[in-house]
Amino acid sequence: MKTKDWFTDWFNTSYYHILYKERNDTEAQVFMKNIVALLSLDKSTHILDLPCGKGRHAVFLNSLGYRVTGADLSENSINLAKKHENDTLHFEVQDMRAVFKNKYDAVFNLFTSFGYFEDDKEDLLILQNIKNGLTKEGVFVFDFLNAAMVKENLVTKEKKVVDGITFNITREISNGFIVKHISFFADTENHSYTERVKYLDLEKMTTYLEKVGFKIEHTFGDYQLNSFNSKHSNRLIIVAK
Ligand SMILES: C[S@@+](CC[C@H](N)C(=O)[O-])C[C@H]1O[C@@H](n2cnc3c(N)ncnc32)[C@H](O)[C@@H]1O
Repeated sequence: MKTKDWFTDWFNTSYYHILYKERNDTEAQVFMKNIVALLSLDKSTHILDLPCGKGRHAVFLNSLGYRVTGADLSENSINLAKKHENDTLHFEVQDMRAVFKNKYDAVFNLFTSFGYFEDDKEDLLILQNIKNGLTKEGVFVFDFLNAAMVKENLVTKEKKVVDGITFNITREISNGFIVKHISFFADTENHSYTERVKYLDLEKMTTYLEKVGFKIEHTFGDYQLNSFNSKHSNRLIIVAK
């Protein structure tokens, strides 16, 4: 049975992992290498990857020598991630709207893992939790989509066949959200899910971050850490303390 929150249901299905299976791990690893070098993160750093999904960034960061905790709302994703656990790599189910139990030297929120909630108060609550969950010199790495680019290049209709499933996808920008409708037939049933990500640009993110006491130190526009440009950048990457 579906819950009231699309992100609780959709991200916990096996279909979500099928649709996005071609996600570029090499690109994710290049980003992680670049960001830890930029931040000169010491090997004693404890990083929280929130939300971590199946742990693709967390596992790689741990392989570089960092102590890493990955947390995500999706039980299925955490169960898959747990297969990689070791003494310095742990995974747990956690809702980012809940207060953290521990403090971390760095919190990474990667690959558009924000802006899912209707009310701005919930966005702020997450950022406040992250702020409170950081040590005094702790750093926040925030990797979001570049809303202006998404709007400019919106593919309104798309058909994608992955593992024999035909996903029919439509996209629109509506009431301040970038909305993606996904429908498909699988396992003898019709399915439909909707992803909704708030249209958040640098200005709005800056307001959010300042409200909870963060100071932006860098903004980048891609995983190679080139500067952010709202017209040309693929990503909006913010480093804040
Ligand atoms: C776009 S995925 C990105 C996951 C991961 N960072 C990656 O790059 O593979 C977004 C993730 O957010 C998680 N999520 C959604 N709402 C959440 C919440 N309230 N608390 C914790 N995780 C949540 C989903 O389960 C999903 O794994």
